Amino acid sequence: MSEASWQVGDILRGVAIGPVAHGGHWVARHEGRVIFVRHALEGETADVRVTGLAKRHAFGDAVSVTEPSPERISPPCVVSADCGGCDFQHVRVPQQRELKRQVVAEQLRRLAGVAWDGEVEAVQPDEWGWRTRMRYHRADTPSPTWGLRRSRSHDVVALPDDGCLIAVGPLARVPADAPEGAEVVGAVATSGAVWVAPGDPRVVEESAAGRRWDVRADGFWQVHPQAADTLVAAVLEGLAPRPGESALDLYCGVGLFAGALADAGVIVTGVEGARTAVEQAAGNVPQARFHAGDVARILGRSRAHGRRGSTLPSRVDLIVADPPRTGAGAAVIEQIAARRPRAVAYVACDPAALARDLATAASHGYRLTSLRAFDLFPQTHHVECVALLAAE
Ligand SMILES: C[S@@+](CC[C@H](N)C(=O)[O-])C[C@H]1O[C@@H](n2cnc3c(N)ncnc32)[C@H](O)[C@@H]1O
Repeated sequence: MSEASWQVGDILRGVAIGPVAHGGHWVARHEGRVIFVRHALEGETADVRVTGLAKRHAFGDAVSVTEPSPERISPPCVVSADCGGCDFQHVRVPQQRELKRQVVAEQLRRLAGVAWDGEVEAVQPDEWGWRTRMRYHRADTPSPTWGLRRSRSHDVVALPDDGCLIAVGPLARVPADAPEGAEVVGAVATSGAVWVAPGDPRVVEESAAGRRWDVRADGFWQVHPQAADTLVAAVLEGLAPRPGESALDLYCGVGLFAGALADAGVIVTGVEGARTAVEQAAGNVPQARFHAGDVARILGRSRAHGRRGSTLPSRVDLIVADPPRTGAGAAVIEQIAARRPRAVAYVACDPAALARDLATAASHGYRLTSLRAFDLFPQTHHVECVALLAAE
């Protein structure tokens, strides 16, 4: 089959799989073209179904492995090859962490010119039963059933009889009395397990960082049970806040890092886009101030208005940024650097976005001083990083 004729759904025979890449893929070159393959391992030969086509490369899925890697194991979940959730089940967890280490190091080297020789740290539970938030989708054919989204698709993969193995026990299956509808969200919090339809304003109570937190059952909370404490400890260790210092908590959600900094005696201002989360942040951390809106817009507006009209301080000692998967972006990084903080903690769920933002930060005089990576999403390619930056 020639490169030009590849169509989505085609099977490419005998693809030689190369090294692991960002996003749960392995890089392969086949018929003169680069293809990013899921569910593969370096050194394998596989038959690959084409799942997507871009201008310069293609995406695929290893559907049959003719020469398997000695690292390959049989995935415990029968739908792991179809479900978009667990794309690393075909290797043991220590090897998963090694793959994530390689990806973080490669992204930092390639996009930020940074040499990183750290490890991806295990966090317990480090294999199964860790997801405290689950969103299930209803499939109506052939018969009504609950399932999870297929990778890069709106199709629903029916939940197997064993339920979801990475969910905490009460969320492994959707109970019969769950709310009706096309989607349902399960949350296990300190206050117990609840099932809600998306948009339901019900609030659960979490405890982390020595505090209690109200958060909407369908709102953002770190999903691994140890994530909030682990990330707060890494951020505090890196920033070493001093009483009386000032800080911004950007993308603050319900105020997790703002609360931890406020407890350390820091004067904190938080910014968050989701209005309901901001209302909860204000209740969770009454000592801090919070602004609802887009981080880039609010940071930019404050500086444009100068001191008198400003809603955010134009200088701060410390900044925490915990952006979504797309990263903070150049405009936000520029605004962070312009406030001349003595230290910045950047919490990142995407190492490529982190590396791009680190490159921008370096161009504004902020260098990486340390980076820790945590395996907060076992069985998946995802990895969480905490990067510390300081002015040169
Ligand atoms: C990874 S979560 C972090 C939340 C919080 N730091 C925590 O650990 O619980 C990212 C947060 O950024 C918010 N967000 C996403 N894009 C945003 C934007 N452009 N401006 C403001 N907030 C945004 C989301 O609503 C979400 O609460």
